[in-house]
Amino acid sequence: MNALPMLSATEISTDRLRLRRAQDADIDGLIELQTDPQVRAHLGGPRPRSAVEQYFGANGISAVAGKPGTYVIADKDTDRFIGTLVLDRRSADLPGHVTEEGGELELSYLLRRGSWGAGLAAEAATAVLCAAADELPDQPVLVVTQTANERSLKLATRLGFRHVGTFEAYEAEQTLAVARLHSFRTRSAPSGPR
Ligand SMILES: CC(C)(COP(=O)(O)OP(=O)(O)OC[C@H]1O[C@@H](n2cnc3c(N)ncnc32)[C@H](O)[C@@H]1OP(=O)(O)O)[C@@H](O)C(=O)NCCC(=O)NCCS
Repeated sequence: MNALPMLSATEISTDRLRLRRAQDADIDGLIELQTDPQVRAHLGGPRPRSAVEQYFGANGISAVAGKPGTYVIADKDTDRFIGTLVLDRRSADLPGHVTEEGGELELSYLLRRGSWGAGLAAEAATAVLCAAADELPDQPVLVVTQTANERSLKLATRLGFRHVGTFEAYEAEQTLAVARLHSFRTRSAPSGPR
């Protein structure tokens, strides 16, 4: 599984966003993502603030910093933390695959509640998928999300992911959606000379 290639970029810029590695200043935002009832509505519910604060106090940002394919989404002008976007590998141990061996690329996204509804998750996801499409061979990319998570499903569909099935996990129905990585190639193609 470790041998499977990952996106190598450590920083990606878009019109409104800077995708970068986590910094200590992001801890308040990272705590918010774990404890906000709306953000966690389809992710098993909010975690107790005291436990999350204790975790970050002890471990800092090590759980998110420097992991290939793991980005903080920050405002391009202010560098303020907006959320996280991860393009990693879905472990074969988990349910929800489109290949026999598992380990497919998997996209996931979490934005602060105050940043929903502005197209920012779509902008961040498109940039990361385009960068991955330019670097990695064509392969399936998964999105796995609770079927009840309408915003997440809508985003996946808007990005071009196709619903391929459902399964039960964490006491809820999960939807498995897939896209071909190289379907994102043309979207990043720079316009040629006129
Ligand atoms: C899933 C999640 C990232 C989606 O966020 P989002 O802001 O709805 O997603 P998008 O970036 O696609 O934005 C779409 C919305 O922005 C609006 N929008 C405004 N300006 C826009 C622009 N320039 N471009 C695109 N959309 C724009 C769209 O109309 C749409 O609004 P609507 O949903 O009210 O119709 C967010 O709800 C979230 O963090 N949820 C909690 C975490 C979670 O469950 N993650 C899923 C695990 S994989």
